[in-house]
Amino acid sequence: SNFLAGNGYLGYRGTLPDQRAADFVGCVVTDTYDMADGVWRELCTVPNGLFVELLADGEPLRLDESERAEVELAMATGEVTMRGTWATAGGRRALVAVRRFASLDDLHLVAQQVTVTPTDDCRLTVRAGIDGDIWSLNGDHFVEASSAADGDVLSRTCTTGEFATVVEVASVSRLDADGNEQDGADELRTWIVDAPAGAAVTVTTGMGVATSNDDLAAGPRATAVASARSVVERGYREVLASSAERWAGFWDTADVRIEGDPEAQAALRFSIYHNRIATPAHTDRLPIGARGLSCQAYQGAAFWDQEMFNLPAYLFTAPEVARNILVYRWRTLGGARRKAERLGYAGAYYAWISGTTGDELCPDFFFEDVLTGRPIRTHFNVWQMHVSPDIAHAVWRYWEVTADLAFMVEHGAEIVFEVARFLHSFVRLDEYRGRYEVIRLLGPDEWHENVDNDLYTNRMVELALGYADATHSLLAEQDQGALDRLVRDLGLTEYDFAAWRRVAERLYVPEPDPATGVIEQFDGFFDLEDTRPDVLRERLLDPGEYWGWPNGVAVHTQVSKQPAVVQLFAVDPTYPLDVQRANYDYYEPRCAHGSSLSHSVHSTVATRLAAFDESYLDQAYEYFMDTATLDLLDVSTANVGGTFIGGIHTAANAGAYQNAVFGFGGLDVQGDAVVVTPRLPAGWTALEYTVIFRGQRLDVRATPESTTVTAAAANAAPIPVRRGTGGAAPLVPPGESISW
Ligand code: IFM
Repeated sequence: SNFLAGNGYLGYRGTLPDQRAADFVGCVVTDTYDMADGVWRELCTVPNGLFVELLADGEPLRLDESERAEVELAMATGEVTMRGTWATAGGRRALVAVRRFASLDDLHLVAQQVTVTPTDDCRLTVRAGIDGDIWSLNGDHFVEASSAADGDVLSRTCTTGEFATVVEVASVSRLDADGNEQDGADELRTWIVDAPAGAAVTVTTGMGVATSNDDLAAGPRATAVASARSVVERGYREVLASSAERWAGFWDTADVRIEGDPEAQAALRFSIYHNRIATPAHTDRLPIGARGLSCQAYQGAAFWDQEMFNLPAYLFTAPEVARNILVYRWRTLGGARRKAERLGYAGAYYAWISGTTGDELCPDFFFEDVLTGRPIRTHFNVWQMHVSPDIAHAVWRYWEVTADLAFMVEHGAEIVFEVARFLHSFVRLDEYRGRYEVIRLLGPDEWHENVDNDLYTNRMVELALGYADATHSLLAEQDQGALDRLVRDLGLTEYDFAAWRRVAERLYVPEPDPATGVIEQFDGFFDLEDTRPDVLRERLLDPGEYWGWPNGVAVHTQVSKQPAVVQLFAVDPTYPLDVQRANYDYYEPRCAHGSSLSHSVHSTVATRLAAFDESYLDQAYEYFMDTATLDLLDVSTANVGGTFIGGIHTAANAGAYQNAVFGFGGLDVQGDAVVVTPRLPAGWTALEYTVIFRGQRLDVRATPESTTVTAAAANAAPIPVRRGTGGAAPLVPPGESISW
């Protein structure tokens, strides 16, 4: 997964060219949702059009694993390279170098070059083409598959069982050496080359992929063939250059430069790279998968991760991508409405796991009790309702940063109103206490199900109802006609808006304890056993046990899977700093970091707490490095309760960006001003990042001594910029800087 080549349309795993399904070779393609086993609807892995097999004097050449081999990912261009010695059982040896990239310029293309340099004279056999044997996590998705050869084009056409989606894979190879081509099968071409020692033989391959769900004028077959052909027609270098140019455009605003800490720099760029290749930035119809396109785990579908983790990493660097993500939520309102209706609510109850239609993909049963083998019923799909207010929050944040009124009119307002309508139908009036409550739910801490008045959830509900009110006022001021139309189309009345305001005013949101400042995570949390994750680890009967509902080791304790109270502060920094500190100090030791979302959240909040004590900054740095290296160092759990959850953790990747820019870089937007309050970790001699704010560009450079914010010369107007949380924000005119 770490060496995944990708472009948001497909992801090609970092395996060797001669590896097969058993080695987890996989090319995962967007918008190919299909259910093969009756439980998991997931994206398909498609036939491998970059398969290359080598033989020396008739014997298979394979990577010699006893020797050092190198794999490299050039994040600037998206190219993966591999170098190693390959050997036959009979002792023939060759140096093999592989280069590969998924084009950012032509999303249907993955290109590869394999160069073999034998160390002795030998007769080399090169077989290149399509391996139709597919690694698929939850069943075989293709009910029909056929192969064809037409000149130098090999192709395979597959049809999925559930929706009859047609997937076309084409493979075109060229050998740069004198060799005899043998008559081959439809899947592979074979060349025999008399290769002298030290002479390089190169096979260049283009793999084209397209599906019937893609909106393609030429159709999937012709598109896949044209993409595959382009590599041999234009040459590997040229297609790489076109893709690299797109990457340069991306990095121009997305890059974050750290001076003084090369490890952190590499890990951060690795994280930004993976967040990008997970994102279907080319469309507003598709979600970002929790594992991106690195494998099929988590179904290639969106969770709340998308709005709270992935999206913020685009908000200030590629706002058009943030917009696409939100338009995707608008397009999937139908699925959210269906879920609400099915469960007896109004408005938009967004799916916990959301694919193309927005209908709930989360199965009822997906973990098992590893001790008994019995399935566990989790309620993520019916109780984890904070996803709806989270999406409303992302809409409002997008508006604050971009001032994109057209988006609010066409998409944002409808999302926010439908979420408010859902929340109104979900909350319960406690007449005795005279307040609204949010009960029977699952907050971000997924080990504690069926809880009432979860702080994070209740506050997000309050905020989302506030956004509905603010959106109503915004449209009333800016476009009364659009508001009238929307209100009419949605069948809303003034009563609804008044009711939402009333619920927000009387909603119970747990308060800090006056003596300690600590807020109870949910009703009754403090009555649970107060213990620590290490103690619970000792109690496990099997390392693969699920810790949560109904009977896991954490259920009856205050140990959380991931932050819930601290999570709220990461989203809503308006809580007084001493309250944030009291809660961080209380909850952080009780958190088991059982989710890859956990580390970055702690880093964000700990950075703020450095205002009290520099040791928080050290913690923030450690958590940042945890999130940025989670995949790189392969430290996360790949199997829980019998379910595979491995692959690239895109929320952790995006969280690393958030830590660097919003945390250490201190970037925020308050009202009409950009706020920059850097706090650099020890050893960082400079941090640089770019901000796109309301269509204008700022470049920030912070050192331990000073901060400089430069407005791009091409900006259309001055931008208010300040540090800290108060005071005036001086205007920075185009081409000028402000320093402090
Ligand atoms: O959305 C997360 C959740 O918070 C924890 N479990 C994994 C999900 C997908 O990343």
